[in-house]
Amino acid sequence: MNRNISLYEAIGGAETLRRVIESFYPKVQEHELLGPLFPDNIIPVMEKQIMFLTQFFGGPTLFSDAYGHPMMRARHMPFPITPKHAEAWLDCMRRALKETSGLDEELQAYIIERLSGPAHHFVNTPE
Ligand code: HEM
Repeated sequence: MNRNISLYEAIGGAETLRRVIESFYPKVQEHELLGPLFPDNIIPVMEKQIMFLTQFFGGPTLFSDAYGHPMMRARHMPFPITPKHAEAWLDCMRRALKETSGLDEELQAYIIERLSGPAHHFVNTPE
């Protein structure tokens, strides 16, 4: 993988990131542990996630520009997140990345590695 460009660029920018997120949230909604945590209207969540991951992967700071400091752990505090939730979230993302054309396996694995830290950091409830 070319380490001289951002992960955002390596993924293929806005268009590919949107396809990943559009594949990810239906999996989250169908998941027995994750689905109940999310509102029926998933569109605003998807849009915020696209803005956040754009910035997290080194693209334009869309999320902070619109909503201020991310404080992502704090934003997740209203929801009981156990280690199982974190693994389930990562598994939905793993499957979404696999289904999205244009992302080679090394890149998919690297993205999951980058998201594993935050996912486990948002755990706020014991199993
Ligand atoms: C660990 C498992 C996770 C669970 C169970 C989870 C669950 C949730 C829930 C329930 C919401 C609120 C939806 C609503 O608006 O009602 C949310 C929002 C959000 N999550 Fe997660 N999440 C997890 C991990 C992550 C990770 C790893 C990231 C990114 C690295 C992330 C990024 C976001 C963003 C950007 C929002 C929108 C925040 C806002 O409203 O401003 N989440 N998440």
